[in-house]
Amino acid sequence: MSQRRTTAAQQFYGRWARLYDFLASAAPGLTKLRGRVADQLGLEPGDTVVEMGCGTGANFSHLRERVGSDGTVIGVDFTRGMLERARWRIEREGWDNVHLVQADAAAFEPRKEVDAVLATFVVGMLDDPYTTVGYWLDGISPGGGLALLDAGQSTHPYSWAVNQAFRGLVVASTPGRGKNFEEPPWSVLDERVEEARRALSERAVETNDSEHALGVIRITGGRLAE
Ligand SMILES: C[S@@+](CC[C@H](N)C(=O)[O-])C[C@H]1O[C@@H](n2cnc3c(N)ncnc32)[C@H](O)[C@@H]1O
Repeated sequence: MSQRRTTAAQQFYGRWARLYDFLASAAPGLTKLRGRVADQLGLEPGDTVVEMGCGTGANFSHLRERVGSDGTVIGVDFTRGMLERARWRIEREGWDNVHLVQADAAAFEPRKEVDAVLATFVVGMLDDPYTTVGYWLDGISPGGGLALLDAGQSTHPYSWAVNQAFRGLVVASTPGRGKNFEEPPWSVLDERVEEARRALSERAVETNDSEHALGVIRITGGRLAE
């Protein structure tokens, strides 16, 4: 990501971390979808899972539930304010096997073997999601899983109103001063999510796609060969 875009994203998410955390944790239906995408990872007790762009840690309870107290959850994010909120959650819950790293997810090198990678509402922010998802897959052990959860424009019939609301939400939640976009941000988002999904489906032996919330939310999970 260019330095200017990185700084804009960090400032934006840093400023809104608390509000984001409230929406990310309390939005109706989202908790269930977070559980569903975690299911796609095929985690077992004792596993190590990395969450790229973990934000305030809204997925941690789902991941920790699956890897158990002997497993490890590593949350990676480049925004300090989001990580501070994630740290608050970890301390509140007393989780000693959930670790945070402030780093660029596109270049993060885990220090131990990784069984699975999760990214929710993140690949749409990457400059080159195809390459980055490929890089994440390179770091996963044979037989491991990767899962993505993202929002995008619905292709369902009669989805005009839903897509209008979605576009408004994308503009409101896109970092950047003045909001003079060269390309509509919802189209950029759709393209990036598609590229990320393509990278996963090309490498995985088994993929699973599903749509939720009138087609606005997409979950894609895949597993690598043993
Ligand atoms: C929309 S929030 C999603 C947070 C969380 N995954 C969730 O589902 O609630 C996007 C997060 O990704 C982080 N992020 C975006 N690009 C990143 C990158 N290249 N490296 C690390 N973090 C990144 C942002 O700082 C932000 O916390």
